[in-house]
Amino acid sequence: VTAEIRFRGTRQTETRIVVGQDLFADGVLPIPVDRALFVVDERVQALQSDLVDRLARALARDARIVAVRAGEPAKTLEGVARLLGELGAQQARKGDWLVAVGGGTITDLAGFTAQVLYRGTNCALVPTTLMAQVDAAIGGKNGLNVGGRKSRIGSFYWPGWVLCDTRFLDTLPLREVHAGVAEIVKVFAVSDAESFRDLVAAASTARPADRYCRADLVARAVRAKVGLLEADPFETSPRRLLNFGHSFAHFLEERSAFSIEHGEAVLLSMLCEVNVGRLAGVCPPGVCDAFWQAVAPYLPTGVLEAWPPDHQVQEAVVELRAQRGGLVHMVVLSEIGRGLILPDVPWSLLKTAWNDVGARLHRAWS
Ligand SMILES: NC(=O)c1ccc[n+]([C@@H]2O[C@H](COP(=O)([O-])OP(=O)(O)OC[C@H]3O[C@@H](n4cnc5c(N)ncnc54)[C@H](O)[C@@H]3O)[C@@H](O)[C@H]2O)c1
Repeated sequence: VTAEIRFRGTRQTETRIVVGQDLFADGVLPIPVDRALFVVDERVQALQSDLVDRLARALARDARIVAVRAGEPAKTLEGVARLLGELGAQQARKGDWLVAVGGGTITDLAGFTAQVLYRGTNCALVPTTLMAQVDAAIGGKNGLNVGGRKSRIGSFYWPGWVLCDTRFLDTLPLREVHAGVAEIVKVFAVSDAESFRDLVAAASTARPADRYCRADLVARAVRAKVGLLEADPFETSPRRLLNFGHSFAHFLEERSAFSIEHGEAVLLSMLCEVNVGRLAGVCPPGVCDAFWQAVAPYLPTGVLEAWPPDHQVQEAVVELRAQRGGLVHMVVLSEIGRGLILPDVPWSLLKTAWNDVGARLHRAWS
């Protein structure tokens, strides 16, 4: 065990987040329960069946496995209904544990389902992607897609346990590693300059998996996220730094019909937001350039046919304004490690920032 981090969503709910490697060896976890239903990403089941078996044996005396296909279509109301049917077929009982084993789409799906099953079932998350270990499984938030629109509904439901075993990351493709790095960049960029510098320095050493899929780095990123969530666990404040990278991310994911990964969209959105800060005069050009250089190794290539035209973004911004009561707050950087909220950014500035990033990407991609 590299770290155990506790997070209180409400006074009554505490999540114990355990980070380490080979957590499911005998006696490491003090939590065998009577019966647990494991909702497992079918790819993880295929690639890591030994580890999933060990996990099931370590956690429950009676373990039942339901395999689910991961991806954005899984985290929908239809996906929840399907899963509830499968859990019913496995004779799910009140008091059973629901254990999600997979990436962010599976932890969102299972977290939401645990909340509605018997009006609240014990829940544990075992995130198997870097993205889910450092972000999606942390904080109790679950999002579902509706009608092709990203995370339009959702809930807060805090799991009792989150078990981040980096052994799962051994089989993660490079694209998924980079998508996870995007969320690590996000949280360090707004709150922790030293960790950001260490992350950038690591980019020149070793294989990507050895650089990023490490328990110490996962633990550092989880601590940084928990530190930002503690003051606002329901994420109600419009002034929350964790919104960095999310002004345009959902728009980009929807526009690409989800062929772009969430982490890739976050990365592109961060570039635009940092650029907004530069144009607004709060982010020195040197910081903007340093940020671009730091994320360049993880920029997706070949996933977007073209940078979407600004009139489409304008529609998305109008919708965002309507949802948020007229204002679009945006997180920008004043320096690396320090996020800052710009209240109500004018469209003219957003448009320039958007087109400028599009032109730079076009040069990088061609
Ligand atoms: N609720 C939150 O607070 C929150 C925060 C961030 C992201 N998210 C959500 O998380 C999702 C993105 O997470 P994700 O990238 O983990 O998605 P994902 O679940 O789709 O996983 C990505 C891919 O990796 C595969 N995979 C999973 N574990 C693997 C392993 N160990 N080895 C090999 N392949 C593996 C999956 O089968 C899938 O193809 C998005 O839907 C996003 O909206 C939610």
